[in-house]
Amino acid sequence: MNHDIADIALADTGDLRIEWAARRMPVLAAIRERFEAEQPLAGYRIGACMHVTTETATLMHTLVAGGAEVALCASNPLSTQDDVAASLVRSGIPTFAVRGESADDFYSHINAVLDTNPHMVFDDGADMTTVLHRERADQDVLGGMEETTTGVIRLKAMAEDDVLRYPVVAVNDSDTKHLFDNRHGTGQSSLDGILRAANILFAGKRVVVAGYGDCGWGIATRAKGLGADVIVTEIDPIRAVSAAMEGHRVMSGIEAAKVGEVFITATGNMHVFRAEHFAAMPDGAIVANAGHFDVELDLVALDDMATSRRQIRDNLEEFVLPDGRRILVVAEGRLVNLGAAEGHPADVMDMSFADQALAAEWIVQNADHLRPQVYKLPDELDQQVASLKLEAMGGQLEQLTPEQADYLASWQHGT
Ligand code: ADE
Repeated sequence: MNHDIADIALADTGDLRIEWAARRMPVLAAIRERFEAEQPLAGYRIGACMHVTTETATLMHTLVAGGAEVALCASNPLSTQDDVAASLVRSGIPTFAVRGESADDFYSHINAVLDTNPHMVFDDGADMTTVLHRERADQDVLGGMEETTTGVIRLKAMAEDDVLRYPVVAVNDSDTKHLFDNRHGTGQSSLDGILRAANILFAGKRVVVAGYGDCGWGIATRAKGLGADVIVTEIDPIRAVSAAMEGHRVMSGIEAAKVGEVFITATGNMHVFRAEHFAAMPDGAIVANAGHFDVELDLVALDDMATSRRQIRDNLEEFVLPDGRRILVVAEGRLVNLGAAEGHPADVMDMSFADQALAAEWIVQNADHLRPQVYKLPDELDQQVASLKLEAMGGQLEQLTPEQADYLASWQHGT
């Protein structure tokens, strides 16, 4: 459903919240100003499948400032902020998204955006890209952008299978994206989601973090900062050692299930916590998923095991097991930071979405020689975004002296 333009009150709230986010996105603001003057996206249609948040709205306005025609739909059925969707529609950006939409609506919204025949596709999780490849073989696309780790993994699999039809920039793989958004964004906003849903104290809690990639690192680090006793589960020995050296206990899933009080998945894989784990968890265990898809918690198994379930608070559902133990699921097992909170704060989305905007410009500038494969944004653009962010944060870079530059360039020195 394209939000009703008559919903003025909702759109007003959206306007104000978007203004608030935009104020904390100085790097994107600088790009927007340049885009307004240079119009690098003039004549291009963009279709975006992203979380409909205040930060995404700021990106959409930046693309429009650069001359693009934009249409947007949601990349997750539970992440849409309806006031933002209403505000975008009022500002002339067709937005097909409603919080809590059905799976059918989710896909019909993707198709509504694809019906605008976009030259470029901005995706978060690769669902729009997948629909394009499965169902719209005749549609020509110049290039795409992918926001998240899960989407990049899917795209690399498509490239490997030789089915990818156009070049895609793995925005997630830029350092200014994954080292900040995935770590600091996911770290803070996932805990924010659990706090809003359950209002628990993290200090003294045994918090199990499944997966110790950038997102798991962020969640574990922030939980520890709040005083939690963090337990990490990992399949990769290097990441597991890294967790151990950062002071976390490392256990198998089943051992962690026996002692954990809060469980947060960030693996990108399915059924990380399943029947055997739910059967071992203590009464009152809270389970949440911070991964892109709602497959990390096997909630079908939990439902099968449960004798009853009830919604106990907003975004918190209680499942009662036959022996009376209660397991609490946050935000239906969908990504907790956007389902139960507002996603990452604008301060960190600033760099991610600066990368997105620059990636679109880069595709336009390089379209004639790009091939249907997954690209990383050039390092210069990554460095440019980091420099602008540092400046906006009031930091300054140190400079090499000529003598130091020579020293680094030479191999002729030793002890
Ligand atoms: N992903 C995580 N946080 C987000 C946000 N605030 N906006 C858009 N996508 C996000």
